[in-house]
Amino acid sequence: MNYLPFTKPFLDEATIQGVAEVLRSGWLASGPNVAEFESKLSGYLGGRIAKSFTSATGALEVALEICGIGPGDEVITPAMSFAATPNVIMRVGAKPVFVDVDIATRNIDLDQVEKAITSKTCAIMPVHFAGLAVDCDRLYDIAGRHGLRVIEDAAHAIGTVWQGRKIGSFGDIVSFSFHPNKNMTTIEGGALSLADPDDARKLDQLRFHGIVKDDAGNQDVVVPGGKYNLSDVAARVGIGQLAQLDAFNEKRKLLAEHYFDCWDIEDCLLPAKGEGHSWHMFAPLIPFERLHLDRKTFIGQMHEQAIGVGIHYPALHLFSLYRELGYREGDFPNAERIGRETVTLPLFPLMSLDDVERVCKTAREIVKS
Ligand SMILES: Cc1ncc(COP(=O)(O)O)c(C=O)c1O
Repeated sequence: MNYLPFTKPFLDEATIQGVAEVLRSGWLASGPNVAEFESKLSGYLGGRIAKSFTSATGALEVALEICGIGPGDEVITPAMSFAATPNVIMRVGAKPVFVDVDIATRNIDLDQVEKAITSKTCAIMPVHFAGLAVDCDRLYDIAGRHGLRVIEDAAHAIGTVWQGRKIGSFGDIVSFSFHPNKNMTTIEGGALSLADPDDARKLDQLRFHGIVKDDAGNQDVVVPGGKYNLSDVAARVGIGQLAQLDAFNEKRKLLAEHYFDCWDIEDCLLPAKGEGHSWHMFAPLIPFERLHLDRKTFIGQMHEQAIGVGIHYPALHLFSLYRELGYREGDFPNAERIGRETVTLPLFPLMSLDDVERVCKTAREIVKS
């Protein structure tokens, strides 16, 4: 039986050939392919400023630095996401202030965001979880009323549409990930989409050693910048992937719709559908306790049947690092429930509808037995 991983990137022959040409060209670090990739990404995002990075983690960290966020500042973020989201807030010396997620959308609960704002709050960092957009109208209304920056963690959401507009084509600072398990890849990589040319100027410095050049080409170093520039090899992968992104996302949507048709284990909470969803993941919540089934056993048995299953994500506030900030079990019941019950099923463009049926049938048999 073929092993079905929970995700797998697809690189077409033209992209592989293109990468081989870059490798032979002698120019491997940031060069013409990075410029072309950023220009095409900007075009995809309706003409916004688009800047590539070696990872979304680096991009998010630089976004916080652009906003001048550091020690003594608070950033509001969901209690359920990948560790990178709150970690970067800690890395710049600020405090992540968690709020619970909505159990249906699994996105940050915006009612609770309002309640968590203090005089120290500088920004909101929401996550468009699994490719479903946060309510951006409400988000920007809250941020506008309280004078807060917004750094959208759109690691899952390249191609996601909110009310007819792509995530990253509007708003404040928006961060994408191009890790191989995302909807498109540059192997490792990420990008920021920005509106403000002054932010973009700061970004250029923070992304590459803080170096600035005058018209005569003389160098100066003005901030202790990092080193986050994408390679031309990775950018060439991104150019090939971006051209196929909408087709990839169409296929993801088709597969997700088939999961809704075929998944028939009782009392599971399926993901919210939502317009413009880019279906980065499909993750039902399975009531393991009520079924007298251990999640580890379930995942092990799926694996024995050659099906990969992921967990996205354990609640963040229960990790040791965040317990040290005073967070405890019971603080965010929805994040904790997701952490206990979620399983990420295989979903990637190379899959077939038959694969979806096989996943659903296998899961049903395991639960029955
Ligand atoms: C929500 C979220 N934010 C940030 C990241 C970090 O992305 P990268 O691996 O490109 O640094 C990820 C990666 O999985 C993620 O899922």
